[in-house]
Amino acid sequence: MSKLWGGRFTKQTDQLVERYTASITFDQVMAEEDIEGSLAHVTMLGKCGILPEADVEKIKDGLHQVLQQIRRGDMDYSVSDEDIHMNIEKTLIDLIGPVGGKLHTGRSRNDQVATDMHLYLRKRVVMFVDLLGQLQGALLKQAEANLDTIVPGYTHLQRAQPILFAHHLMAYVSMFERDIERFVDSYKRINTLPLGAGALAGTTFAIDRHFVAAELGFDRVYENSLDAVSDRDFIVEFLSNSSLVMMHLSRLCEELVLWSSTEFQFVELDDAFCTGSSIMPQKKNPDVAELVRGKTGRVYGHLVGMLTVLKALPLAYNKDMQEDKEGMFDTVETLEGALRLFTPMVETMKVNRDRMRQAVRQDFSNATDIADFLVNKGLPFRQAHEVIGKTVLYCIQQNKYLLDLSLDEFRQFSTLFDERIYDVLQPENVVNARDVYGGTAAVQVTAAIERAGSALSNTLSWVQQHASTRS
Ligand code: ARG
Repeated sequence: MSKLWGGRFTKQTDQLVERYTASITFDQVMAEEDIEGSLAHVTMLGKCGILPEADVEKIKDGLHQVLQQIRRGDMDYSVSDEDIHMNIEKTLIDLIGPVGGKLHTGRSRNDQVATDMHLYLRKRVVMFVDLLGQLQGALLKQAEANLDTIVPGYTHLQRAQPILFAHHLMAYVSMFERDIERFVDSYKRINTLPLGAGALAGTTFAIDRHFVAAELGFDRVYENSLDAVSDRDFIVEFLSNSSLVMMHLSRLCEELVLWSSTEFQFVELDDAFCTGSSIMPQKKNPDVAELVRGKTGRVYGHLVGMLTVLKALPLAYNKDMQEDKEGMFDTVETLEGALRLFTPMVETMKVNRDRMRQAVRQDFSNATDIADFLVNKGLPFRQAHEVIGKTVLYCIQQNKYLLDLSLDEFRQFSTLFDERIYDVLQPENVVNARDVYGGTAAVQVTAAIERAGSALSNTLSWVQQHASTRS
């Protein structure tokens, strides 16, 4: 079988080389994008008078046939045609004859592959914004249902101060909001068209790049032809943004694993999202949470891998850049799987309010509040800290909690204590005393949920506006 670029060669390609340099085994996932780009390109060639309309129609018709073949799963991909671009072109020529060979006029695989990847990623980024919005929706529902659920808040994984469980969940809503912002911001760089850059320098044909951009729904075209074919920043950005999402998910995973342990028993994950043990009949393991936590590593790996491939690469295209794909495809698959599982896992999670409440009763997480009580009585905070430290030590020695102490016992440590201390120490009051913007008081968390709800509806309308570019 002759190569599309075979003219200059006198020998067959070594079979190992063929296999080693081919990308068809993985870049076939961009088949539809490749055809989408070709259709716009050939339409432009007709409009600019570079190809006669009759040829354009034949090529378009042929491309539609190839598309049907791809969708039917009838493509006979071949390693000797190296990549998706040449496999499609070869199939087209087989179908419609030599006129198919006019498709590549004024184009190079270098600007073609970059265009395919922009098209591919654009759809996925819209999908990820949508999936992140859905996860926020699930967290918001749980937060609303847990506006009066009090749980210890931790630092150093030691009980620190009581907070609303809703407040804890809303921290994740904020994290995912930043992730959404990053993806939305990256969209404008992804939605920039490289096609028309040719191999590196532009083309001698009088093409219209802006027409192709408009046909494909790109907001703008690359300014510089070398940059257009060499730029993979948008992939690095995508991998970096995805790494941050995975990192956020993995922190939530870790908390779910802890919270669902017998030691905590704060939540129970639905049976549908857990698996059993082949030997220990009693086991119910939070496998999904563990695996998402584990898969975070491979996404970080793809980010570092891509940065390393690009480091010190001279302009413009180099074959090294073919290494940009598998990491990107794997990241899309990994992140999509994680997000699609996470939303229903959070939605179906049972919150054990009593257990959380009990945890708050049996700790010293209200200690800061009695220190603040003494401060309000005029004692400098440092001294108040010392007094309460001693009070807590006394409690530990007596095997008591602060609320178990009599007023006389309190007054051994400071005469500033009075009856009101018992109110101050109630978990609800401890929580509601933190009535500062962004704090855990119920009124603040209610307001935060409201703000997040309207941010979410903005997100969903962004997704709708960009729905035509999603898969
Ligand atoms: N399969 C190639 C890639 O993914 C397409 C571009 C090939 N260009 C070239 N000059 N060999 O990078």
